[in-house]
Amino acid sequence: MAHNLLKGKKGIIFGALDEKSIAWRTALRCVEEGAEIVLTNAPIALRMGEIKKLADTCNAPVIPADVTNMDDLNNLFTKSMEHFGGKIDFVLHSVAMGMNIRKGRSYTDLDYDFNHKTFDISAISLHRVLQTAYKLDALNEWSSVIALSYIAAERVFPDYGEMADAKALLQSIARSFGYHYGVHKKVRINTISQSPVKTTAGGGVKGFDGFMTYAEEMSPLGNASADQCADYAVTLFSDLTRMVTMQNLFHDGGFSYTGVSEGVVLQMEKQ
Ligand SMILES: NC(=O)c1ccc[n+]([C@@H]2O[C@H](COP(=O)([O-])OP(=O)(O)OC[C@H]3O[C@@H](n4cnc5c(N)ncnc54)[C@H](O)[C@@H]3O)[C@@H](O)[C@H]2O)c1
Repeated sequence: MAHNLLKGKKGIIFGALDEKSIAWRTALRCVEEGAEIVLTNAPIALRMGEIKKLADTCNAPVIPADVTNMDDLNNLFTKSMEHFGGKIDFVLHSVAMGMNIRKGRSYTDLDYDFNHKTFDISAISLHRVLQTAYKLDALNEWSSVIALSYIAAERVFPDYGEMADAKALLQSIARSFGYHYGVHKKVRINTISQSPVKTTAGGGVKGFDGFMTYAEEMSPLGNASADQCADYAVTLFSDLTRMVTMQNLFHDGGFSYTGVSEGVVLQMEKQ
């Protein structure tokens, strides 16, 4: 059910690859709530992906940008402002790539060139996006920026590897830039720490299915879906959450604060 929560707002959505993507689900919800959007993804993902379908549904232009390329990001914000005929009200950063994980390398055997690339794509890119917007003065007062994180930033999940460090850095950038952009222009910046969802990025982690079942069993409300994450993002883009900034917000059905569930204890007793 739509409530026009984003009526008149204009946003940029990074990271819609296919219909399972958190960014894809969020794009649909934002438009349903009255927003106008621009979609963006890496040029290679645009060639492989199905984004044209989403663009047609959302009546949105697609502007390619590799998040590690400053010229691409400058072009993206400049063209988006031209398209909207004004500044931007919200940004979703839903981008990640674990290079060592992709190459099957464990946390104790990292290739550092891959590691730098992982940090650049998955974390420093948030700084790149924010700095580009800051210098171009592309965001309206009270704009809202969200990046997607995962609880491995705070607690150990062995197979999440270097991505845990990338998410910790991402959250730190959201806090640090949140201070500066808040003082400068009342822009708020938060991360959502989301439950596991079977997407291209999520499914790349070893043992993902077992882990997803475990998280479902551990969370009092069960795992939060990508559509529910999109709902939450809409509230954070809306004017109803204007004073929330520099936070890492758990959207995980209670997983983060559960020590153990009765279901998991029962499983242990069966062994
Ligand atoms: N799926 C999960 O279980 C889960 C849980 C918590 C957080 N997250 C986070 O949610 C975000 C979105 O992931 P998803 O699960 O929807 O998977 P996804 O694979 O659908 O999305 C990842 C996106 O990152 C894009 N990307 C990769 N390199 C890029 C680059 N250089 N420039 C621009 N874009 C680039 C990909 O093209 C893709 O669209 C990520 O930050 C991920 O870590 C996912």
